Amino acid sequence: MKRTSVSTWFLIVCLSLVAVQSQYNSKSRPYDPKAEKVTDLHFFLHESLDGQNPTAVVIAQANITTNNSTVPSRTLSAVDDPLRTGPEPSSEVIGNAQGLAVIAGVNSTVAVTYFDFGFTGGEFNGSSLSMFSRNQLTMTEREMSVVGGTGEFRMARGFAIINPYLINATNVILEFNVTVVHY
Ligand SMILES: *[C@@H]1O[C@H](CO)[C@@H](O)[C@H](O)[C@H]1NC(C)=O
Ligand SMILES: *[C@@H]1O[C@H](CO)[C@@H](O)[C@H](O)[C@H]1NC(C)=O
Ligand SMILES: *[C@@H]1O[C@H](CO)[C@@H](O)[C@H](O)[C@H]1NC(C)=O
Ligand SMILES: *[C@@H]1O[C@H](CO)[C@@H](O)[C@H](O)[C@H]1NC(C)=O
Ligand SMILES: *[C@@H]1O[C@H](CO)[C@@H](O)[C@H](O)[C@H]1NC(C)=O
Ligand SMILES: *[C@@H]1O[C@H](CO)[C@@H](O)[C@H](O)[C@H]1NC(C)=O
Ligand SMILES: *[C@@H]1O[C@H](CO)[C@@H](O)[C@H](O)[C@H]1NC(C)=O
Repeated sequence: MKRTSVSTWFLIVCLSLVAVQSQYNSKSRPYDPKAEKVTDLHFFLHESLDGQNPTAVVIAQANITTNNSTVPSRTLSAVDDPLRTGPEPSSEVIGNAQGLAVIAGVNSTVAVTYFDFGFTGGEFNGSSLSMFSRNQLTMTEREMSVVGGTGEFRMARGFAIINPYLINATNVILEFNVTVVHY
């Protein structure tokens, strides 16, 4: 009799453990935004479209006739661009931007970009920023929104002002001034 009651208790304990494990949420607690910080970042994205090691390549394209545009519409590109401290190709690499750029609309001068900016040096080594926005490629000042981040940039939000430093048929160099609010 006593043995049975011990095993019954054991079963009850096991069942209550299962019940605790099936709970997937914590108790909600107050969020204190006073602990947030703001950081400004300044770097240059270097994109090579040609040559032996292009950093952006077309991976899919619609089979439609487009007007004689150098940037065809309905095109998807895979991008892995180094981020450098300066506009010179020899300046220090501090990270890379990886993601997709899609010219989705009929207007081939607008690109939507989905990039993760990962940093490989300095204070933010190992951290990354997620940026997403559409941009008119012909505009001299563009903007991207920071929609999140990892590592030091957890819970990040902010914006990047992008200044086209150089754009020609084979190379693109963009200056980024990013303002990030994060933990
Ligand atoms: C592209 O579309 C045209 C017309 O529909 C077709 O003749 C051609 O075979 C297509 N090319 C490819 C690579 O699918
Ligand atoms: C392509 O060019 C033709 C002729 O100039 C024009 O009518 C048409 O609107 C253009 N299409 C696009 C998508 O720009
Ligand atoms: C596209 O280029 C061809 C050859 O250069 C030219 O004949 C044609 O008029 C151009 N079309 C448009 C819409 O600019
Ligand atoms: C494409 O964008 C350019 C630049 O803003 C604009 O002049 C043109 O009218 C747009 N064309 C279409 C078809 O939306
Ligand atoms: C960045 O972090 C990685 C991984 O912890 C480390 O191997 C690397 O040496 C670091 N680079 C710099 C420049 O600090
Ligand atoms: C584009 O600019 C780069 C850097 O200044 C230069 O090396 C390259 O030759 C240029 N390409 C063209 C097609 O003008
Ligand atoms: C970006 O920041 C740099 C350095 O702080 C500054 O010299 C430059 O004028 C800024 N550019 C823009 C477009 O805000």
